Amino acid sequence: MTDTTTAARTDAATDAAADAKAADAALKARHRTMWGLGDYPDVAARLIAELGPVLVTATGIRPGERVLDVAAGTGNVAVPAALAGADVVASDLTPELFVAGRAAAERAGVTLQWQEADAEALPYDDDSFDVATSCVGIMFAPHHQEAADEIVRVVRPGGRIGLISWTPEGFVGDLFKTMKPFAPPPPPGAQPPPLWGDEAHVRALLGDRVTDVQAERRTVTVDAFDTPDGFRSYWKETYGPTIVAYRNNAEDAERTAELDREIAAVAQRHARDGQGLTMDWEYLLLTARVV
Ligand SMILES: C[S@@+](CC[C@H](N)C(=O)[O-])C[C@H]1O[C@@H](n2cnc3c(N)ncnc32)[C@H](O)[C@@H]1O
Repeated sequence: MTDTTTAARTDAATDAAADAKAADAALKARHRTMWGLGDYPDVAARLIAELGPVLVTATGIRPGERVLDVAAGTGNVAVPAALAGADVVASDLTPELFVAGRAAAERAGVTLQWQEADAEALPYDDDSFDVATSCVGIMFAPHHQEAADEIVRVVRPGGRIGLISWTPEGFVGDLFKTMKPFAPPPPPGAQPPPLWGDEAHVRALLGDRVTDVQAERRTVTVDAFDTPDGFRSYWKETYGPTIVAYRNNAEDAERTAELDREIAAVAQRHARDGQGLTMDWEYLLLTARVV
């Protein structure tokens, strides 16, 4: 091979790496915008507030421990972890959510650090934390192995990881599957979030870098809606991924009506009552110890 050929190949590889980096930055910018739409703080507070304390208990967070909450949003885990006496960093791709998080922390009388960070490239040294958690958060980073590698990397040997993820079969997994044909197509290589709710998938991601894996499927009961219409409007106006799916079909009244019907049907499939107003949303609670 000539020097010229080698140089041309190196240039092509450098260009490809730069293109991949730019594409990833653009994707993350779109995700950040999406999670900033609507009113995610209301979703966290109204529908799934009980999940944060579940992770604090499951990981056995103790006073003085250094805890990282990945994709923390408004601090659903981070604030109760700080209340348990831990020294907490709440990190997320969408710093707009920290406004509500800081207000919640202030109401709770705790102080924690809020930091913008991509779960796939955490800005922390190896072994920096005693515990890392993520409540229906890391599952939304599109490259699962990269995110898993990062969460393992930043926890010290003997430290714990605790994750809550919506299962593919549960309400939110079903909602994402239902919205897929209506949403903008994901870029190549992006993996579906509810795969993190599959125990075998997460065990494979974490591999032999962890031990003492415990996984359990549980449900959170959601009964915050008075009418099926109210339920649908809430998703249309409040939850970023649903807002994006509706915007993607805004010019097509028939497709929009179809999406309305499909979302109502998802609620029915996970309902305890005939109207789909009291639902049990299934999630996977998984804890592990870093080797
Ligand atoms: C469903 S919310 C969960 C937030 C919070 N953990 C909770 O329990 O309410 C998903 C969160 O993942 C964050 N997120 C999405 N992609 C991310 C990424 N690549 N890195 C870090 N955070 C990300 C979003 O900004 C959003 O706050």
